[in-house]
Amino acid sequence: MARITASVYTSHIPAIGAALDLGKTHEPYWQPVFQGYEFSRQWLKDHRPDVIFLVFNDHATAFSLDMIPTFAIGTAAEFKPADEGWGARPVPTVIGHPELASHIAQSVIQQDFDLTIVNKMDVDHGLTVPLSLLCGAQDPVKGAWPCPVIPFAVNVVQYPVPSGQRCFNLGQAIRRAVESFDEDLNVQIWGTGGMSHQLQGPRAGLINKAFDSAFLDQLIADPATLAKKPHIDYVREAGSEGIELVMWLIARGAMADVAGGKPPHVAHRFYHVPASNTAVGHLILENS
Ligand code: DHB
Ligand code: FE
Repeated sequence: MARITASVYTSHIPAIGAALDLGKTHEPYWQPVFQGYEFSRQWLKDHRPDVIFLVFNDHATAFSLDMIPTFAIGTAAEFKPADEGWGARPVPTVIGHPELASHIAQSVIQQDFDLTIVNKMDVDHGLTVPLSLLCGAQDPVKGAWPCPVIPFAVNVVQYPVPSGQRCFNLGQAIRRAVESFDEDLNVQIWGTGGMSHQLQGPRAGLINKAFDSAFLDQLIADPATLAKKPHIDYVREAGSEGIELVMWLIARGAMADVAGGKPPHVAHRFYHVPASNTAVGHLILENS
């Protein structure tokens, strides 16, 4: 049987991808950001999964106002890095896991969550920047990501967006789906986006350290209560793009304690401001 062994949470700022791709990681502005992920790069080598289920949001790259799926699962064999306006990032193609992805689609839809099935999708910074942060720079041709990745896109860009509660419940359905897959696979679930940030309007540049810190505390210790936070609170306190944080509740809902198991072990916690317009938050939780 397949199992979720750990969850990883991280911001996905596009400028981090640019800093990596342009060799700027040792510049004084970026050095503290990448230093916060040194532990994580070693941790991923020591806890190499067979598959990563990566919850992210598309930023009007693969989808647009023409079509807005709330939850979309990538079932393809591969996903190319997207061109977001200045050429595709020089990183390897993402190899999917069609068998597990199709099984999760079947199981989660039968648990009454309506998923859009995506057989062709280019993946933007929402997915490739978290991979770069945890895996380090990879040669786009000779290199490869450490394992297959199932992209799971959530609409947090165009209202109406899903509630934190629905995301938390969905995470629980995903855990049940993974555990009903016959093959023995070590699966990690990653929740990405956030933390507080607002990219537009009079409040552009908003950062709320107190909110972010309380969010991290509650995500670890009491996610069921955190799931009840209404979306308007995210927008008010964490900025219009702070709503990306509901995706972290999908990953958290898939952890064992939510289904009556032991509380997870906090392997790593990191927070840094600023990086571009965003507060960088990062957590690694292991199932005990
Ligand atoms: C930034 C952050 C994001 O999450 C994003 O999707 C785009 C830009 C930023 O901080 O610049
Ligand atoms: Fe974003």
